[in-house]
Amino acid sequence: KNPLFKFNLNKSYLCQKKKFMRKIMILTLVILTFFSCLNVQKDQEVVNVYTKRHYQVDKDLFKSFETEYGIKVNVVKASADELIERIKTEGENGPADIIITVDAGKLYKAAQENLLQKIDASEICKTLNPALIDVNEYWLPITYRSRVIVYHKDRVSPSELSTYNDLTDSKWKNRLLVRTSTNAYNQALMSSIIAHEGEDFAIDWSNKIVENFARDPKGNDRDQVRAISANVGDIAIVNSYYIGLLMSSKDSLDRKVGESVNVFFPNQGEGQSGAHVNISGIGLLKTAPNTENAKSLMKFLTSEYAQEYYTNNSYEYPVNTRVKPSKIIAEWGEFKIDNLDLNKLGSFRKKAVEIFEKSNWK
Ligand code: FE2
Repeated sequence: KNPLFKFNLNKSYLCQKKKFMRKIMILTLVILTFFSCLNVQKDQEVVNVYTKRHYQVDKDLFKSFETEYGIKVNVVKASADELIERIKTEGENGPADIIITVDAGKLYKAAQENLLQKIDASEICKTLNPALIDVNEYWLPITYRSRVIVYHKDRVSPSELSTYNDLTDSKWKNRLLVRTSTNAYNQALMSSIIAHEGEDFAIDWSNKIVENFARDPKGNDRDQVRAISANVGDIAIVNSYYIGLLMSSKDSLDRKVGESVNVFFPNQGEGQSGAHVNISGIGLLKTAPNTENAKSLMKFLTSEYAQEYYTNNSYEYPVNTRVKPSKIIAEWGEFKIDNLDLNKLGSFRKKAVEIFEKSNWK
């Protein structure tokens, strides 16, 4: 027999054995990696956030929190009412830790539905503005905003403006712009008027405001300002930060729109209530599976770093008293805020909706 042939046979046998061993090793590695990944996932700290806010600032801040704390932020976005329904449906074993809304009224609702646990504000942040903390301790603010009057710089003088009630004057006929009454910001404003002045006053206010509309309500807050700029009306009721967003927009047309108006804070006179404010706020769920992580996120969002980031990018007001409002909004000046218990923006909500319907505020 050819010895060379025997050698070849041996070589190919060895080769196959080697290949087989290599396959086993790769397989072992794959299995090991798979299980170690499972382990890592099990060890990965998370916080599950249900939020109505849909801004880039929030995304950025969640990223910074993940980097700083090593806790992953899982976000579910929907309207506050949808989030509340979902939390109720998911029940005891639901994944949500935190709910964030843009309206204290919705946090009041979540507390009424028995979804929130009490939280000691001073444990989260010692320098929160005390006027903006829930008296029942069910939620905390993360930013606040005022529902202001904006007016065209040339067609209106600030001396013509004073209170929300003054907007019912016939001098504003066909000049007033505001969005629909289905919007939570308007419902919160109406709730505050009922809380301060009573139902009859609020009905009369609503009827007269509707008479002064420059057009049937449509669009969002920014669209009301655009309509002033396009000469559809002269004044509008909008949230303060939208002016900051327009003025700093990448869109030159929007910047022009922002520059065409000035901000007026209503109800600043002696004995008057102050300008209506609402918060973006946060509540810790009773069923939260990651309470400590949720508290860490609350601490982070009310920290000086996050508060500065909010005001400089979303033009909302900081709730941490150590942080100053951004330059753009500081230029509108300081103002007296309405110190109404913000839970009343929720407790009068049903009444507010009824009044809007009766007065045909679209
Ligand atoms: Fe908004």
